[in-house]
Amino acid sequence: MKILVTGGAGFIGSNFIHYWLKNNPEDRIVNLDFLTYAGNLENLKDLEGNPNYEFVKVDIADKKLVDDLVKGVDMIVHFAAESHVDRSILNSEDFIKTNVMGTQNLLEAARNNGNKRFHHISTDEVFGALSMDDPKFNEKTPYDPRSPYSASKAASDHLVRAYFHTHNLPITISNCSNNYGPYQFPEKLIPLFVTNLIEGKKVPVYGKGENVRDWIHVDDHNAGVEAIIKKGKIGETYCLGGGNERSNMQITKSILGAMGAGEDMIEYVADRKGHDLRYSIDYGKAKDELGWEPKISFEQGLQDTIEWYKNNQEWWRNIKNGEYQEYYNKQYSN
Ligand code: NAD
Ligand code: TYD
Repeated sequence: MKILVTGGAGFIGSNFIHYWLKNNPEDRIVNLDFLTYAGNLENLKDLEGNPNYEFVKVDIADKKLVDDLVKGVDMIVHFAAESHVDRSILNSEDFIKTNVMGTQNLLEAARNNGNKRFHHISTDEVFGALSMDDPKFNEKTPYDPRSPYSASKAASDHLVRAYFHTHNLPITISNCSNNYGPYQFPEKLIPLFVTNLIEGKKVPVYGKGENVRDWIHVDDHNAGVEAIIKKGKIGETYCLGGGNERSNMQITKSILGAMGAGEDMIEYVADRKGHDLRYSIDYGKAKDELGWEPKISFEQGLQDTIEWYKNNQEWWRNIKNGEYQEYYNKQYSN
């Protein structure tokens, strides 16, 4: 099988390419990525020269180039997106261009080239925010996105389902909870806090740190995507989660503890606008229908991730010294 992976130079996509080629060495992958601030070919350095791997720098919104690439593959796994909530609060334009219009362009290419199999990677954030005692999200939870990021992902999910109903495009969708692991861009909570502490800087906790996320190791997410690709029912959506609800304060204390830092390294900063209180996933459908469930304990996964950031300082120091600095200054300028 030849797979077109979009966004394969980002965090989850690059981990997916490693995961897939290891477990399916007979398959070939074309990695289509525009190399935005979040795309980094360093994540895939070890695959240079691998005859089953090819990289192309293309914008998913480019009609002609995307159509040409889709022609030559058997399926599309669509990770490419603008992915950071805080950036979508500063400026949402690229979120609409890439997440909505880019997805529409890919769907058209899939439809115009013989209805190619299409797996869409999405997020639990499309379901909105839970109160502390609400039941977890599942596939039947109504959509209620509340940030420009989640609104753009919700729009893309609706388009993917519309192409199934209208054009019989053979699609599946996964809505996954918060990922962590190697190669995550250090603007997201866990890598930001770990790398700040290595640099001797404080960690910026939004508000009181009471917001809750359901953390999943990126390898467990990608194992879920593989299960859906191989065993999922066409037209269906599957919720994937880690079963690890933690408040931001619990995460912060775990990281501080693991890195031998004290609570004096916490800096309480202004809360995120419209900050969703809690996300949590019921992954019962994926477990019952696909036999998938997350395997990596949060404690082990976090420890391994901290080690990875300690051992790969050149990777993130290059990022933190680049465009990132500009974003960080903007983020804290008001
Ligand atoms: P990321 O920001 O690390 O990577 C995104 C990648 O997409 C980058 O390589 C970037 O260069 C590429 N890209 C952006 N715009 C593009 C364009 N116009 N054309 C081609 N490539 C483009 O994101 P991530 O955390 O790896 O997330 C990947 C996917 O998973 C996204 O769709 C996201 O919504 C979804 N998701 C993420 C999480 C999470 O916790 N990170 C959880 C659930 C779902
Ligand atoms: P993030 O990693 O941005 O993921 P998402 O917003 O998609 O869930 O943030 C995870 C949680 O951590 C979220 O509740 C916001 C919070 N957070 C902080 O408290 N400080 C930070 O510097 C960042 C980036 C996030």
